[in-house]
Amino acid sequence: MHLDHAGIATDDAAALADTYETLLSAPVVHEEAFDGMRVVFLELGEGYFELLEPLSDDGTIASYLDSQGPGIHHLALATDDIESALARARELDVRLIDEEPRTGAWGHDVAFLHPKDTGGVLIEFVQH
Ligand code: CO
Repeated sequence: MHLDHAGIATDDAAALADTYETLLSAPVVHEEAFDGMRVVFLELGEGYFELLEPLSDDGTIASYLDSQGPGIHHLALATDDIESALARARELDVRLIDEEPRTGAWGHDVAFLHPKDTGGVLIEFVQH
């Protein structure tokens, strides 16, 4: 397992992508509208920043921005076997937000763990 990306909540993904492209020489490698959000991936070495901008006033990222403001929303860990990673979490009584992998941004299989059981960090398992 390795760190795949940081998910960053923002109210302006295009502007933030411009900032990071210039500041970090991190190219935009993927963009899509997904699940009520504009999602932009920038490549940084072996990993990514995933910018998340809500496209409406409801939804997870909109409420996150309302309560927390912009910033890091989750950390994603890449695995070759997401089913086994979820099974291990279950064995350890880590609560799962997604009981089964689902299709996430960029068509990857994803599943989120409950931050109350992971030190306050929202962790996403992702399998490319
Ligand atoms: Co993510």
